[in-house]
Amino acid sequence: MFLFQLNALESILVYFNWSITVRLVAIIAGGYASYRTAHALFFSPLRHIPGSFLARLTPLRSQLINISGRVGQMTKKEYSMYGDIYVMGPNAVVISNPVDIKAVLASHAFVKSDFYMGFDTFGIENTVSARNPKVASMRKRQLGPYFNPAYISRMEHDILRYGILGLKSKWDSELAQSSSGRIEIDYSRDFTLATLDSISALAFGIEPRGLKDNDATAADRVEAALTIHGIHAMMPLFKFFPFSLATWHWESQYRKLIHHCNESIAARRKHLAEGGKKPADLLQAFLDAQDPESKTPMDERQIHASSIEVMLAGTGTTSNALQWATHLLMLHPELRARAVDEVRSNFAADHVITYVDVKKSLPFVEACIYEALRLCPVPGGIVPRVTPPGGITLQGHFIPEGTEVWASYSGSSIHKSTWDEPLKYDPTRFLDNDKSRSNFLTFSSGVRICSGRHLAWAEVSTILANMLKDYDLSLPDDYTHLGPSVLDDSGYPKLMESVIYAASTPAHPQRDCRLVLARRM
Ligand code: HEM
Ligand SMILES: *[C@@H]1O[C@H](CO)[C@@H](O)[C@H](O)[C@H]1NC(C)=O
Ligand SMILES: *[C@@H]1O[C@H](CO)[C@@H](O)[C@H](O)[C@H]1NC(C)=O
Repeated sequence: MFLFQLNALESILVYFNWSITVRLVAIIAGGYASYRTAHALFFSPLRHIPGSFLARLTPLRSQLINISGRVGQMTKKEYSMYGDIYVMGPNAVVISNPVDIKAVLASHAFVKSDFYMGFDTFGIENTVSARNPKVASMRKRQLGPYFNPAYISRMEHDILRYGILGLKSKWDSELAQSSSGRIEIDYSRDFTLATLDSISALAFGIEPRGLKDNDATAADRVEAALTIHGIHAMMPLFKFFPFSLATWHWESQYRKLIHHCNESIAARRKHLAEGGKKPADLLQAFLDAQDPESKTPMDERQIHASSIEVMLAGTGTTSNALQWATHLLMLHPELRARAVDEVRSNFAADHVITYVDVKKSLPFVEACIYEALRLCPVPGGIVPRVTPPGGITLQGHFIPEGTEVWASYSGSSIHKSTWDEPLKYDPTRFLDNDKSRSNFLTFSSGVRICSGRHLAWAEVSTILANMLKDYDLSLPDDYTHLGPSVLDDSGYPKLMESVIYAASTPAHPQRDCRLVLARRM
């Protein structure tokens, strides 16, 4: 019987000899390619919209761009080539006009695309990844009261302690050991440790030791977790065996983070059960969160998911915001001098500047941060949404139901008719200018706007303002590849290179994110 099967197989193989097989495959592939081409050119509802020919044929192009980490550069370039709307996949368009982006993001009509499935935690939708508008609004109602400025100010003690004060004690102890009174820092690393310490303290309720021990273990775990989610979003196949084996290293790092998160929740419950005081932090917020309408709390998995989620959404973003703001101030000494002057003329040397202080007295420093986040938008890629029934008309093009609309922050932040001299770093455009602020989309806009924006502002602005108050900054002597007089094609100081996976990150931080720090004169 077995032999008979083998014989049959052999005769089939002989019958369809190799050359025929190859020919068949070629015919099928050729047929498919012609079908795709004909569809893209003559039938696709997107055929009148500008864009690259290859993008119309296959999603592979977009996938390769994603994997290369060059989605920011690519969307900037293609915005310049094709304008406000262009095709980026057989069923996807990229939009860059702030008016269109705000319209798309305004309501729940345009839901998040399946791309966000890669960011689910414990198999459920979290605030960031929710495609279902009901889940998203429930989470916003439950957590809203804890992400507002009033609750942020109750958490400010920790934000300062693990943010700027943590940085200062690290830098001051290094300065104390330096004979020249100057130290060189890697601000990419230091800001990563500080923002991670701050969020860990708030989300896990434990004393973090990143800065104290100059230890990036926890930061590496968060990085690994983001890598896993990024891979799962860009290449869902890697969720499954045997491909999942390739990601084992990151998975095991991620599991340690999850374990840490679970332990911290258990520890907080024990503390409360023993009659301990309720601290004001994010962990407590997740435990207490309740929908004001239906009184629904979050269940066990949602609490765990939220605590992991703020670690992932709140560290790289905030740290990179600080890195770009610092980088830009180092490239523009005259603007830095103005910021330093504002800070030092408003506050005594021994005063720790708070977020309220910044908002009240430091409009220029605030404008420097806005402008850094505009020119170098931290979520520099695109945010994908799906067109609802009825479609939408954008820039005169009808976009039918089911088309993916990808909002481009890289495009909107250099949009030609929105910003004068878009490539220039010019903080003054944000001074007393409501129009600039309404076109500022780095924290997104509409119903899915960043929940953590006030927290991020509190961290970034207090770190930057106090750093400018307490230290004199300069570029190292051997830092010659970039600087105020190293200009790019547009005539402005050249920016360090970046890569984008979860956030727009310096590509060579150890080379590019160096500066010399001395105690203020
Ligand atoms: C400078 C720092 C930050 C920037 C630029 C930023 C930017 C963004 C953007 C653009 C979105 C929308 C993403 C999308 O639609 O796919 C978003 C969503 C979100 N961010 Fe942030 N973020 C920052 C910091 C934070 C922090 C510190 C937290 C929390 C502690 C946080 C928590 C969230 C959450 C929960 C969402 C999902 C909101 C929703 O979909 O309803 N972010 N953020
Ligand atoms: C590339 O990433 C974007 C999000 O940045 C996503 O919307 C898109 O679907 C991805 N492309 C592919 C082919 O997976
Ligand atoms: C942590 O908690 C989640 C959600 O409750 C659970 O699914 C997971 O198995 C736990 N993981 C560990 C390592 O304890």
